[in-house]
Amino acid sequence: MDKIVIKGGQALHGEVQASGAKNAALPILASALLADGTSTYRNVPDLADVTTMLKVLRTMGCDAERDAEKTDVCQVGVNGHITPEAPYELVKTMRASVLVLGPLVARFGRARVSMPGGCAIGARPIDQHLKGLKALGADIHLTEGYVEATAKQLKGGTVNFDVITVTGTENVMMAAVLARGRTVMENCAREPEVEELARVLNKMGARIEGAGTSIITIEGVDALKPVEHAILPDRIEAGTLLVAAAISGGDVLVKHVVPEHMDALVEKLREAGCTLTAENGGLRCKAPDRLTSVNITTTEHPGFPTDMQAQLMALMSVSQGTSVISENIFENRFMHVPELHRLGADITIQGHTAVVKGVKGLSGAPVMATDLRASASLILAGLRAEGRTDVSRVYHLDRGYERLERKLSGLGADIRREKA
Ligand code: EPZ
Repeated sequence: MDKIVIKGGQALHGEVQASGAKNAALPILASALLADGTSTYRNVPDLADVTTMLKVLRTMGCDAERDAEKTDVCQVGVNGHITPEAPYELVKTMRASVLVLGPLVARFGRARVSMPGGCAIGARPIDQHLKGLKALGADIHLTEGYVEATAKQLKGGTVNFDVITVTGTENVMMAAVLARGRTVMENCAREPEVEELARVLNKMGARIEGAGTSIITIEGVDALKPVEHAILPDRIEAGTLLVAAAISGGDVLVKHVVPEHMDALVEKLREAGCTLTAENGGLRCKAPDRLTSVNITTTEHPGFPTDMQAQLMALMSVSQGTSVISENIFENRFMHVPELHRLGADITIQGHTAVVKGVKGLSGAPVMATDLRASASLILAGLRAEGRTDVSRVYHLDRGYERLERKLSGLGADIRREKA
């Protein structure tokens, strides 16, 4: 298992490019199942989770590979001989594998997908995914930890989500595009990644309207065709890089972003005292040495993203004042707190709220990553901490960040990856 070693205290300067969005790439790769032939995707981030999704697709009989030379290109070839199953061994390593459920039922009339189980940040049920598929006429049985879904032909219907769910919206949307008739989905997730998936499906011949709003209408079609598409930039990786500039008192241009996808984060960084400006297809963040504490409440998009909560907590741990951070999406997304304590942060948890009293400085120590965004949070804190910080279990980091340590060292950070 690798670890990341950081010597804190360097203000970051320069330019860095965000990679393609993990949370767009995963549903889009699964959507290849909806068409016969080979789809080609560019700007696909080189991440462990993407590798897992390609493996899931290959297990079913797809040709799903990353290009050996152009490592940001992936191709997924789907012919008629697909075994519509996703085994526990793979699904347990990446819950987003459940995104094959909707396409498989829609295209092949059958799916046997392992229940994803919970993960570090919460129980993460998929009841809304199943509610949506049932509304389209699928028969759903849960046996031996697997979801068995069958449908001779899905029919359009009305789906009203009890909970706003990103992958639930995506799964049901991918099922509805081949259902007979009209589907109306209400209380949908509005994330840019949902919009991007709809964009790709429409390029394949689907008829989706309203993606990015809470009501999505879909007219089913008989068949979709393969697609070529470049994945949109990762707003969470880009946001993490902006926070790296902010926590180090630096000046960094993050290129290849869609600023309007990051309004909630940009507003908070400005409120804390950063200067953020849009500059040739990117966002520049210039920060004073010490910022002012701000309050954070995570909500569904376009609110403040839960995937940026841990990173902002690291920043608030060294800001001037007290910050109240409320996590409203997941029930257990404060596991970075005990590790930030080891670096000298002053944080008190009260239910789903964390009270962060800014301290003058942090001091480096060995810490342990517990989940994807927690690992980013600890690296950010290490950039600020006096002395050496070793972040272990960085396999969590590699799920969602493409060579983050290289991107940060390119901006002047004293950071390297070591065999633990
Ligand atoms: C997606 O997860 C993202 N993952 C997550 O990013 C992100 O944190 C999350 O959306 C929220 O924005 C991908 O897109 C691959 P949800 P998802 O369904 O879809 C509850 C990262 O760090 N819920 O929107 O699994 C659920 O328990 C990852 O990149 C149900 O109750 O999240 C949670 O409390 C982490 N029943 C809330 O809804 C359901 O059927 C939101 O979950 C589905 C969800």
